[in-house]
Amino acid sequence: PAPDGTLVILGAGGDLTHRLLVPALYDLACSGFLPDDFKVVGVSLEKQTTEEWVASLRARLDAFTRDKHAEFYTTKISEETWQWLASRMTYRSMSFVSAEEMQTLTADIAGRNAVFYLAIPPRFFEESVVTLAKVGLLTEKPGIFRRLAIEKPFGTDLETAGKLNAHLLSVMKESQIYRVDHFLGKETVQNLLALRFSNLLFQPLWHRDYIDHIQITAAETLSVEGRGAFYDATGALRDMVPNHLFQILALVAMEPPTSLKAEPVRNAKQQVFDAIRPITPENAVRGQYIKGRSGDRIIQAYRESMGVAPDSITETYTALKIELDTWRWAGVPFYLRTGKGLSNSVTQIIVQFKQTPLSLFHTEDGQPQPPNRFVYNIRPDKGADLHFNAKKPGPETNISEVVAQFRYEKSFGSLPNIGYETLLYDCLQGSASLFQRADNIEAAWRAVDPVLKAWAKDKKPPEFYTAGSNGPAGADELLARDGRSWGPLN
Ligand code: BG6
Repeated sequence: PAPDGTLVILGAGGDLTHRLLVPALYDLACSGFLPDDFKVVGVSLEKQTTEEWVASLRARLDAFTRDKHAEFYTTKISEETWQWLASRMTYRSMSFVSAEEMQTLTADIAGRNAVFYLAIPPRFFEESVVTLAKVGLLTEKPGIFRRLAIEKPFGTDLETAGKLNAHLLSVMKESQIYRVDHFLGKETVQNLLALRFSNLLFQPLWHRDYIDHIQITAAETLSVEGRGAFYDATGALRDMVPNHLFQILALVAMEPPTSLKAEPVRNAKQQVFDAIRPITPENAVRGQYIKGRSGDRIIQAYRESMGVAPDSITETYTALKIELDTWRWAGVPFYLRTGKGLSNSVTQIIVQFKQTPLSLFHTEDGQPQPPNRFVYNIRPDKGADLHFNAKKPGPETNISEVVAQFRYEKSFGSLPNIGYETLLYDCLQGSASLFQRADNIEAAWRAVDPVLKAWAKDKKPPEFYTAGSNGPAGADELLARDGRSWGPLN
């Protein structure tokens, strides 16, 4: 189990707490990863008792575990385990920006390890952290840790991210800060390091000599739903690229770290971010969805969504061509795309290998043998597919593409996974490999900054695409220009 301590959740009444943090704590409790001397203190403005708070968490626990992840959970909630967790929970109604009120937490965590989880809107990040520091709650003593877990958005560009980092670092040490990217909570994303560095098989091939290009896709059928106001000020690029997609990019492109400890892993990621050649506007596509149909659902135009300006030029889709100036990757483009209101929800990496030096074979319909392709699926089909060629049985010498498949479910059975279990556990354990260092965050923003600046100047609307389609034509052209095409969105 994790060391004894208290998890203080600021924003205890909110969505993140109900939907992700508490279900993940419940999963950790089920598998015995929480210590007996574990406490949760929920802090929020709302007036309610501990019993009311616990009841509201319990009321939504089924929905966020059993209903949402039905494929993982074969049993009902164990009331005994829930009681174990619930009996360790306390609710404090107070303002997390009032030093006077926050002072009362001192007694709750006196002499104890504590993690403060900021499950609050970003506009309160700086003030709440200053308050925690002012009251002395972040002061570590020998044998006692005090940590801060904070989730994106880390600013909205290079400048604001730098300011936020400077602010945090003015009241605590870098080693106390756990910057969360929820993609790194996904088993399939964590597995990328294992895949690359526990299999010699991939080692010699993972290189410009053998790889033609790499595609990273995070497509969603979802529209902006109820998040119009947030999204309209953010856009697809800020929402997904310097954080989630770049984390995948870093794991795919990085050099082998010398160990799995935090600093070697973060250094290896940093090298990737630093090697990104400034992205020019010609290599950045932006799209916005208009009314369309996804399955049997009609999706209204983005501009008609609540909270969105009727003449909004915010992108709901972006595709980028990224080049890394390194010996390993020179000349191998990484194409990234992400968007909402698309035909399918797929998060996937495609590693497209080069053609063999000489094409000796062809397919039944006379096409040259297809080059090998490794498809790594983050969701929905968790696993990987290796596409290679085999001779089609029969007297003629034709080849056909075949697929070797790995699926988590088949190999490991289903695992309960909200996606925050490992993140919370690692933070309590003090293992920071899955969290971002200040310079990682800033380097990622630095890489997308030229695009953000160019788009801010250029007021022309993004390219429209019909909701339920595969995105704007410009994204296809981006690859067609290089004689390539996107993998299917299925
Ligand atoms: C969030 C973005 O960080 O990630 C959302 O703000 C996006 O817009 C989500 O939908 C995607 O995460 P997941 O885990 O559903 O792939």
